[in-house]
Amino acid sequence: VNPVIVAIDGPSGTGKSSTSRAVADKLGLRYLDTGAMYRAITWWMLSNGVDVNDPVAVADQAGKPTLVSGTDPTAPTITVDGLDAAGPIRTQEVTAAVSAVSAVPEVRARLVELQRAAVATATDGIVVEGRDIGTTVLPAAGVKIFLTASAEARAARRSGELNGSVSVAATQAALIQRDAADSSRVASPLAKAADAIEVDTTELTLTQVIENIVALVEEKR
Ligand code: C5P
Repeated sequence: VNPVIVAIDGPSGTGKSSTSRAVADKLGLRYLDTGAMYRAITWWMLSNGVDVNDPVAVADQAGKPTLVSGTDPTAPTITVDGLDAAGPIRTQEVTAAVSAVSAVPEVRARLVELQRAAVATATDGIVVEGRDIGTTVLPAAGVKIFLTASAEARAARRSGELNGSVSVAATQAALIQRDAADSSRVASPLAKAADAIEVDTTELTLTQVIENIVALVEEKR
């Protein structure tokens, strides 16, 4: 059998990460979280005093950090210059800055190269989650999924992950702003590939979403 490549794209708060990890684990595939890579390079920029709102400065530094992603779906890891970035990339500071950094073409070119290299080494196949995987990074992926959910459902889920430390209304406003930035940027925006299967998760449990996607992949394998 050919290694199956599964692209899972969609806006924030649709359950992409939980879904992608579980699908990879159930099918014995590797797992790559490309959002974590954009967050990691953003964290490095902030830590090194780069003005994240200056695309020229960001482009200039884009080649500097060394990023390494571990692709075990049960324990994904990410390091930047050898430092564990898993915790720091989830802060609100990084979340607020990541859309500006990820809009810079030099950043995308660098990370897309790393993403394709990770896929090339995944001889048993891989699930890759992000925003532009089906459209730009892996246009030949065997299975393409576009996950959606209502803005209310997405905000409620994300606010649950933050243990209620931020109000649902504030979370929803931040999500909408980030998705608008990600969808309207010039360099490979968040978009559904023409041949992607859209799965609306608003009324589905996580288990149902996982089972639907596992079935879709098994059909294609
Ligand atoms: O998936 P996550 O919310 O962690 O992604 C963080 C950010 O990384 C997104 O808001 C987007 O700006 C960027 N991103 C991207 N392309 C991808 C994955 C993530 O631009 N393939």
